[in-house]
Amino acid sequence: MRWRSLVLDRSMELKMRINHFPTTVAAANAVADRIAERLKATPNVVLGLATGATMEPVYERLVALHRAGEISFAGVTSFNLDEYVGLPPEDPRSYRATMDSQLFDLVDIDKSRTFVPDGLAADPAAFASRYEAMIREAGGIDLQLLGIGRNGHIGFNEPGADFAARTRVVDLEESTLEANSAFFDGALPPTQAMTMGIGTILESREIIVLATGATKRDAVRTALLGAVTPDCPATVLRRHANVSWWLDAESGADVAGESLAAE
Ligand code: F6R
Repeated sequence: MRWRSLVLDRSMELKMRINHFPTTVAAANAVADRIAERLKATPNVVLGLATGATMEPVYERLVALHRAGEISFAGVTSFNLDEYVGLPPEDPRSYRATMDSQLFDLVDIDKSRTFVPDGLAADPAAFASRYEAMIREAGGIDLQLLGIGRNGHIGFNEPGADFAARTRVVDLEESTLEANSAFFDGALPPTQAMTMGIGTILESREIIVLATGATKRDAVRTALLGAVTPDCPATVLRRHANVSWWLDAESGADVAGESLAAE
């Protein structure tokens, strides 16, 4: 495994570790191992979780580590980033069902402490502020796991999203609908989602971003090297003091040489 932990320091804002791995599996396994370490050190950790193809191998390894008796989720509280509006939790394509089948039902987590935005909330604004309150009452998110959209979205905060935004319902971009149609047998997913806001995400104490595959290469380059702008929401992560990026050879191809200071 090639492991390089780098700090980009082009502006005072930039303070991020970038971990490069040769393969997707190696990157995902390393992220799972990092989460597992955290679980061992802090059994009652509050996790922020993401869904999507990128996260599948991470959850697979976490389940394997649990089955091997290495980690327990018994003390964990979790908050997922987002959920499609209009999908009931029992719909297998909902993010609640996805989390249940990929992780929650396969480990010893107390499901009453696993929270996912409610895509069917009758009053979405009221639900969203309750979701924020629940995160606060849990003590805030210790470790937030993020993927990145091809368009640079984090959670479902699409380009143009306010950096201060809180949990709310958003419209999904065409490119997001197309990318996620893979999970809907080629049909388009719901056009709206409820997502934690960028402001919510930035309050997490630590953020891990996992990006794998060639389709993420442009977004990763812009996020790490482009101007900080709502046009690429992930650029805002450069304003957070504790973010690490976990990349495979394809997603990290354009930032691999950015070794300004090795840790
Ligand atoms: C999912 C989420 C999204 C995904 C992103 C990448 O909960 O918040 O930001 O992380 O769309 O999705 P995949 O991993 O399917 O490429």
